[in-house]
Amino acid sequence: MTPQEKVRTVVGTSVSPASPPQLAPGLVPSVTYEGGDQVNTYLSEGSVRGAAGESLPLERLGIPSIIYADGPAGVRIDPVQDSTDLRDWCTAFPTASLLSSTWDPSLVEQIGDAIGQEMREYGVDVLLAPAMNIQRNPLTGRNFEYFSEDPLLSGRIAAAYVRGVQGNGVAACLKHFAANNQELYRYGIDARVSERALREIYLRGFEIAVRESSPAALMSSYNKVNGIYASENKWLLEDVLRGEWGFDGEVMTDWWATCDPVSQIKAGNDLLMPGCPSQIDSLLSALKYGNLDEAELDRSVARVLGTVKRSPKMSGKPVGRHPDLASHDSLARRIAGEGMVLLRNEESALPIAPQSKLALFGVYSYDTQVGGSGSGYVNRKFKVNLSEGLEEAGFGVDSTLKVNYTAYIAAEKAKLPGEYFWVIPTAGETAVPLEQIRRAARENDYALLTFGRMAGEGSDRSAGKGDYLLSDLESGLLGTLCREFHALGKKVVVVLNVGSPIELTRWDTLPDAILFAWMPGQQAGNAIADVLSGKVNPSGKLPMTLARSYTDIPSSRNFGVSEGELNKVCYEEELMVGYRYFCTSGVPVEYPFGFGLSYTDFNYGEMEAVGDSLIRLRVKNTGKCAGREAVQIYVRKPGHMAGRPTLELCAFSKTPTLMPGESCTLEFPIEKRYLQCFENGEWLLPEGDWTFFAAASAEDLRRSVTLSF
Ligand code: BGC
Repeated sequence: MTPQEKVRTVVGTSVSPASPPQLAPGLVPSVTYEGGDQVNTYLSEGSVRGAAGESLPLERLGIPSIIYADGPAGVRIDPVQDSTDLRDWCTAFPTASLLSSTWDPSLVEQIGDAIGQEMREYGVDVLLAPAMNIQRNPLTGRNFEYFSEDPLLSGRIAAAYVRGVQGNGVAACLKHFAANNQELYRYGIDARVSERALREIYLRGFEIAVRESSPAALMSSYNKVNGIYASENKWLLEDVLRGEWGFDGEVMTDWWATCDPVSQIKAGNDLLMPGCPSQIDSLLSALKYGNLDEAELDRSVARVLGTVKRSPKMSGKPVGRHPDLASHDSLARRIAGEGMVLLRNEESALPIAPQSKLALFGVYSYDTQVGGSGSGYVNRKFKVNLSEGLEEAGFGVDSTLKVNYTAYIAAEKAKLPGEYFWVIPTAGETAVPLEQIRRAARENDYALLTFGRMAGEGSDRSAGKGDYLLSDLESGLLGTLCREFHALGKKVVVVLNVGSPIELTRWDTLPDAILFAWMPGQQAGNAIADVLSGKVNPSGKLPMTLARSYTDIPSSRNFGVSEGELNKVCYEEELMVGYRYFCTSGVPVEYPFGFGLSYTDFNYGEMEAVGDSLIRLRVKNTGKCAGREAVQIYVRKPGHMAGRPTLELCAFSKTPTLMPGESCTLEFPIEKRYLQCFENGEWLLPEGDWTFFAAASAEDLRRSVTLSF
């Protein structure tokens, strides 16, 4: 390869038109986004429209161009690819936080497999997913794309997703490496975090995913980590990722993370995306003047071509454009039902009896959010709103409310722009006259109220009313519904159609049931109806803590920017992220990590250790209907080391569906590697008694065994 060819190989080809690439003629226009702005870019002819990027084809050497497209809730490409009537629709699966709420890697692997099949059919070679940053704070704009506040749960779920995708011969890409835990100032914020917290919390999920699924690619993040941009951070990319964990794939930048291209390549960041002419110039001149060794460049070229070599494009097989969308749609519905979390169910308010008459309130009941905006958006063919799902399930939906809400939403949306990358416009909540509510209470059996929140990359959420807190209108509506329906002995159910928590504590009146339905993908309405009707017995459990108040969360003191400094955020809470903090400090929470109700009950029986690397637990369904139970194993480490959490998740497993009276034995392998503590610059396994708890949540420890290491 010539030096020019080598340099062009490590710079994506979706270059701006300022300097048309000489090596890839026949480009077609596409668009991407830089900051908030639309930027015209070019993809080669025959490429996949709407993909995020592309690599350089080198016809002379028989090297094809490969296509990089987002993730994570499905493949993000344009449905219209050419002038024929064929449309390349992709399945909008539930967003990541719902996937982790299933606590079921084997189900997540099936989602990965379906996404991998759609990639194959549509000619996408690398999926820019899974996204797996730690949910350090509930206001992070991209939390819905991430899995959990816990690294073990994040890592195991991500590994399953990657195995599913890559089983199809295409590549997955873990992102955003590392400590990319906020959107504010995302292009340059400096995450100041101790090596201990980095290794035990922020890197560990990536480590698990790398070791357990061998992802082909990884995306470095925009931010700095302790003063050095992640994409220029040799310690992160070469020493830790490759040296310690054995990652052998390619590392690419996040889009437009245009720091210093020479430092990026030297640090082991192999591909600069989406690529721009100035990067090519800088690299060529660095080569010429000896600021970049050809050997360093060769290393990155080899890694980028490694991905090309294993891609379906190398076999030259034409794409089919006919994925099995019907079966992926059923899968989307199934997993959505498995990941919803039932938070409250007073006097068995749920399930709702068949054919009940329902008064549906809240705009999100009629315009249900299936996913977030930004690169996590998926161009799906349709979505099922909650109102439609309930009707489909045989419930009566109050027609006056339906007509009024539908007309209101249509009128509001007519004033807003259409759905596009950055914005999924939603109508604001609207007041319902008291006489309407009274009429609805007389004529229906239940009130159902949906609260929704939109989110997406580029901005964080707010801690104020209308976002983390209910708006005055929302809390007024909830209060009136509870008063009027309860007065007639009728129940009120709240559905949360959100990608990340809202505060549930200071609600003036409490509904009888609360279902955390997340952003559940294109089958949203049917999946929520499945749970409300009891067709699906809820078995999802929270992958993050729901605090009583935002200010109870340690990172609330240093989220966004630290006082007086616009460019750095200090992770002062160290290891005390999420339940690690709440369990250690004793500060009460609204709903603990790992919590979720079922329509049945489970008994945790005998717990035993087999040697020091396996724990077994008997679980019995002691209730009246079939169901599944996600069991967590937490460890209490010996002695009490200063600044360490009192409990840490070290394994989890979920029962198969157990019929009433049926039992099973769950097995939990215990990996010493992930029990280690990073203290004073080294990993160690403290000697002494280790207590392992089998738990239904971080606050419901039911059985224990003690082992000595
Ligand atoms: C996002 C990435 C995404 C990329 C390509 C960036 O703005 O941070 O997650 O993969 O765009 O769309």
